[in-house]
Amino acid sequence: MMYPISKIKLDFPILNRKINSNKLIYFDNAASSLKPNYVIEHEMNYYKYEYAAVHRGIHTLSREATNKVEQVRYKVANFINAKQTEEIIFTKGTTESINLVAYSWGRKFLRSGDNIIITEMEHHANIVPWQVLAKEKGLLIRYIPLLPNGTLDLSKLLSLIDDNTRLFAITAASNVLGIINPLKDIINQVKNISNSLVLVDGAQYIMHQKVDVQLLNCDFYVFSGHKMYGPTGIGILYGKKYLLDNMLPWETGGSMIKTVSLVKETTFNQVPWKFEAGSLNTAGIIGLGAAIDYIKSIGLKQISLYEKLLTEYAFNILNNIPNIKIYGSITHNRIGVISFNLGKHHAYDVGSLLDTYGIAVRTGHQCALPIMDYFKINSVCRISLAMYNDYFEIDKLASVLTKINKILI
Ligand SMILES: Cc1ncc(COP(=O)(O)O)c(C=O)c1O
Repeated sequence: MMYPISKIKLDFPILNRKINSNKLIYFDNAASSLKPNYVIEHEMNYYKYEYAAVHRGIHTLSREATNKVEQVRYKVANFINAKQTEEIIFTKGTTESINLVAYSWGRKFLRSGDNIIITEMEHHANIVPWQVLAKEKGLLIRYIPLLPNGTLDLSKLLSLIDDNTRLFAITAASNVLGIINPLKDIINQVKNISNSLVLVDGAQYIMHQKVDVQLLNCDFYVFSGHKMYGPTGIGILYGKKYLLDNMLPWETGGSMIKTVSLVKETTFNQVPWKFEAGSLNTAGIIGLGAAIDYIKSIGLKQISLYEKLLTEYAFNILNNIPNIKIYGSITHNRIGVISFNLGKHHAYDVGSLLDTYGIAVRTGHQCALPIMDYFKINSVCRISLAMYNDYFEIDKLASVLTKINKILI
């Protein structure tokens, strides 16, 4: 039985807010999702009653906080079905996780003439770190192109891979087009014909559907807490243990060492702590653990089923608005991300008018300029749905967009 939607809304106090005298309708979940009381209270309780630095002290509070952090590591491992808890590294978010791999693994193992494959649908976070690394090391970057329906042209995949392909970095789901990539099949193909590693950017997928890193057989999987009802400033890098063991630390300092001396070479801690220099974002980690518990209490199966129906409803109703152009096909497997433009009107104008009705959407290039270039546009309006959105909100969006059409023409 689905946890009733009216009940889910009650868990999110910010949804009681009025924006410009209208009840808030929040359609900007792909940028950052809202936080339930359960997550907020866990973070607050840590600061109020449980606060201490972790991995340092022998006193009760410090030991309790350390246990909590390590319990969340276990929870995350379980959530994505990692083989070992040590394969989970706490970072600031998806962006930092990708940079960690580029900096640590890339700088140690890649040589001039090697190549990395990415796709034309990546977020800048999964493009720029590879471009910077490529420039520094003399690497080639190859791109799987988009098709007009917003899916990837996977017929090009095998021809792009050769003996010098070291990494294939791909998003699980597009933050602009909503398309979910058939990762299992893609990774099988890559692994069948090469020794390339695979990094999956799970930032847009993790809050919607079950992830099983062992089933996928990816080498790295990255995501952010704030996009899955958790706090900002906390994210995850999953990496296969043998890879992490062989990588060098990327930040150095306290907590990540085994021994330090002024006369002998410093030795490093084992994974995962080798990659967690300095004081951790303990409150963020505790909040992330609470977010996982919250999602599990509702169930990812029910969440994805409900969001699928809501997305189809939204797509069909928006598609009937005169003047609208939606990017990306509805018939493909997708998350609830729908990007559109209204005629020649700039997305900022449309987004600003929606805001006057209390409707929050994303406007701009969505940190995916290559997708904008492909469709020869410079910005889109994007709605991105979460489990607390409902059919009435979609109807309101459609009716306001119809009004905006008249105002702007
Ligand atoms: C697909 C994708 N990858 C990476 C990121 C970057 O995430 P963060 O800003 O949390 O590091 C985003 C953010 O929108 C995203 O949508």
